[in-house]
Amino acid sequence: MIEKKIARRMERIVPFYVMDLLARAKELEARGRSVIHMEVGEPDFTTPPQVIAAGKAALDAGHTGYTAASGIPELRRVISAHYQERFGVSVDPRRIIVTPGASGALQLIMGILINPGEQVLMTDPGYPCNKNFVEFVSGQPLPLHVGPDTGYQLTAELVEAAWTESTRAVLLATPSNPTGTLISREEMERIHGVVKSRGGSLIVDEIYQGLIYGMDGYTALAIADDIFVLNSFSKYFGMTGWRLGWVVAPEEYLDSLDCLSQNIFLSCSAPSQYAALQAFSPDCIEILEQRRHAFQQRRDFLLPALQDIGFEFAAVPQGAFYLYANSSGLTDDSFRFAYDLLEAEGVAITPGKDFGSNRPEQHIRFAYTNGIENMAEGVRRIARFIKSR
Ligand SMILES: Cc1ncc(COP(=O)(O)O)c(C=O)c1O
Repeated sequence: MIEKKIARRMERIVPFYVMDLLARAKELEARGRSVIHMEVGEPDFTTPPQVIAAGKAALDAGHTGYTAASGIPELRRVISAHYQERFGVSVDPRRIIVTPGASGALQLIMGILINPGEQVLMTDPGYPCNKNFVEFVSGQPLPLHVGPDTGYQLTAELVEAAWTESTRAVLLATPSNPTGTLISREEMERIHGVVKSRGGSLIVDEIYQGLIYGMDGYTALAIADDIFVLNSFSKYFGMTGWRLGWVVAPEEYLDSLDCLSQNIFLSCSAPSQYAALQAFSPDCIEILEQRRHAFQQRRDFLLPALQDIGFEFAAVPQGAFYLYANSSGLTDDSFRFAYDLLEAEGVAITPGKDFGSNRPEQHIRFAYTNGIENMAEGVRRIARFIKSR
């Protein structure tokens, strides 16, 4: 047997706890049990047919090789036109770097900005991988505990109070995973003001920007052109498996991003990029907007249904497809609750533990990436489980 010598950073990079739960759910399903899934962070809708057709056509046309590291010029132009049409913001296509998902964008941004030991401020609860992108470049993630009083988001005051000499950047997500909450444009401007006055960089993850309900969204690009804004084809566009996203970067950082992208990725998938050209076409957007509407209806069904059986919410989240419930009235161990629920009733949910160390045992994330009928059955089963304990 050879001696295993894993780098020390891997002690701090842990797998998602929900993966164990998912594996168990699959096992139960393989044995014929019915499982209602409310744990998965990806749309249940498949990629729109126009995009699939364009992907097939790209393969037939021989687009099977590397592309420019920053992406095919057509796609960068189409993304730029999207910002103009949707938000009235003019973005030079040169500032748009196409990446393998938002994950690729986060990897590149951390790679070009963060020196070993430098801190990145972020929220707790937050997207689990954020910490790990910082760990990967030997930086220091600094998750700040946030709660309902700030809509589970950072504020200018929190950023100001947490800033130290080692702080290099702030990473925000609006709407957020796991809470679905937004940062108002005014607050984003104030946070940007603080970060700028400290000489740091502001990074805004807009991956759920297309999934905002009952109000108009904005892009941080409208606030300033020294903000790193990342986005993805995964969620709104229903393209998780195509592995495609982008970052809009300040002019001064473009060369470094292109250089790192060349070295790490060489290029994004060519067929995926040609397929994504169709993602912004009017008929595709029409389908995506219908889906957005469906997500809104699901949220409006699930939130009161969960409240009725004892889960608490400080406010109605306005985006993404997640509800982050306070489950403290039902359990003081959300992890156990999730496991026992899966075994007893075949409902899969994500315990707070995956999203940080801010009272995780009192929280559960529900993803409404499932139809209303299935979710109604899920809620019935959860109610039965609660009664039986
Ligand atoms: C907030 C947030 N950022 C980034 C990602 C990464 O997404 P992808 O790499 O598929 O674009 C996710 C995925 O769940 C997410 O929730």
